[in-house]
This record gives sequence, structure tokens and C-alpha cells, in this order.
Amino acid sequence: MTSSDTTVAIIGTGNIGSRLAANLAAGGQDFLLASRDQQTARAIASTLDRHAEVVSVDEAVDRADVVVLATWFDTSKQLITEYGDRLVGKVIVDPSNPVGIGDDGTFHKTIGERESSGQILASLLPDGAHLVKAFGTLSPGTLSAAAHRKPEPAVQFYATDDDAAGTVVAELIRADGYDPIRVGGLDQSIRIESFGDLHEQGGLGRAVTRSEALPAL
Ligand SMILES: NC(=O)c1ccc[n+]([C@@H]2O[C@H](COP(=O)([O-])OP(=O)(O)OC[C@H]3O[C@@H](n4cnc5c(N)ncnc54)[C@H](OP(=O)(O)O)[C@@H]3O)[C@@H](O)[C@H]2O)c1
Repeated sequence: MTSSDTTVAIIGTGNIGSRLAANLAAGGQDFLLASRDQQTARAIASTLDRHAEVVSVDEAVDRADVVVLATWFDTSKQLITEYGDRLVGKVIVDPSNPVGIGDDGTFHKTIGERESSGQILASLLPDGAHLVKAFGTLSPGTLSAAAHRKPEPAVQFYATDDDAAGTVVAELIRADGYDPIRVGGLDQSIRIESFGDLHEQGGLGRAVTRSEALPAL
């Protein structure tokens, strides 16, 4: 769990936001849950044993020290641009995968081959806000199924340029029921996004333990 004076918010209550919320509640982590549609957020929060407080997106941004953007890449870009300087001093957690579906039903990368959504979002943040890439490596089903696994937890990778932000997010990953492994700075985000070698669908094929992950690093 993060320390009691750290307020965590999840913005977005879709596939990833809702599963993250359930995992964090199971790990005893309190958090703010925000979405445009507060009905959905309330329905999710009612199942989470009072760990989630439903708030507006605006209030989540103002109150949280750690903001998880469980939204699509384009929405995350839009939110970062919209909230701008209100994000200074905060840790922004980015699970986004820059993927689209073509007419033939196959997935493709929506940004340059060598680009990562983590680095692009970080470049949009004001000075004093720190981005951590995390929580986007596993499919929603695996994110639920592999959480709080015993006796050996599964790994969640993360990447950041800021040590202090990384420490906070590592605690959040533990509360989520996973063993945190930092893959490096934001220039390594690409490895844990879709098509990356450490992504479930791009490379590893499943949730792995620390001993299984280390040879791949
Ligand atoms: N699904 C996957 O397999 C998967 C796996 C790993 C990582 N990811 C990444 O995780 C992120 C979320 O994916 P998802 O599958 O959870 O998407 P999703 O189910 O479509 O949920 C997106 C959430 O974003 C909210 N949202 C949209 N526009 C918003 C705005 N302007 N302000 C605030 N909230 C807004 C939506 O709220 P409304 O209901 O009001 O539209 C919804 O709650 C994406 O970046 C994705 O790349 C997804």
C-alpha cells in the first residue's frame, strides 16, 4: 500500500480502471475513482468494501498525489493538455497502449515504430509532474486473474525517469497484487507497451514471476 498521506486516483472505469480498482481494494488500498459517468463508478465502488470514493475527474486531479490515467492514449493526451499545470507535483501513471484495429481486424501501432506512448505523454507534462509507465502490460482478464497470486506473485513491469515516483508506483503495484520490476527509464516504455518484448501479447505470452522475468530483462 502507498503511505497513508498519499492519495491515489484512478480516472476511467473501463476494462483496466475497473480491474485495477478491484485489485487495489483487495490489497487494502484506498483510492478515488473518477469517470465522466459517475453511475458506473458508483456501481463499481459499491462492490469494493469502501476502499473507493467516487469523485469527479476534476476533483480527482485536484486531490490526488498519484493519478492513474486508465483512459485511451488520445484521451490521456487530452486530459494532460487540459489539466496542464494542475498536474505539477503529481505522479501520473500511464497504462496506455498505442493500438488501433484495422479494417481487417488486426491490431496496429498508431504511433511511430520507435515511439512509445509513455514518452509522448511525458513530453506533454509540465515540469514537476512525473510519469510512470505501468499497468498496461497485461490484458484485462490476466490483470484480474494473476493478481494477489500465491505463493509467488506475478510481475508488473514499470518504467520511469524519476526514482521517487517509481518508489510510490512500486508500492501501488504491490497493493495491486503484483511484484514490481523497474525495466528502466521512460526510454524503456516501448518494451512494456503493445508489441514490446515484455508485453503479454507482444512477447511474454502470460503473466510471469520474477525468476521467469529476469532472463528477459
Ligand atoms: N483493454 C485492454 O486490453 C488493455 C490492456 C492494457 C492496457 N490498456 C490500456 O488501458 C487504457 C484503458 O483501456 P480500457 O480497455 O480500460 O478502455 P475502456 O474500457 O474503453 O475505458 C476507458 C475509460 O476512459 C473513460 N474516458 C473516456 N474519455 C474520458 C474523458 N474525456 N475523461 C475521463 N474519462 C474518460 C471512459 O469513460 P466513459 O465510459 O465515460 O466513456 C472509460 O471509463 C488504454 O490506454 C489502453 O490502451 C488496455
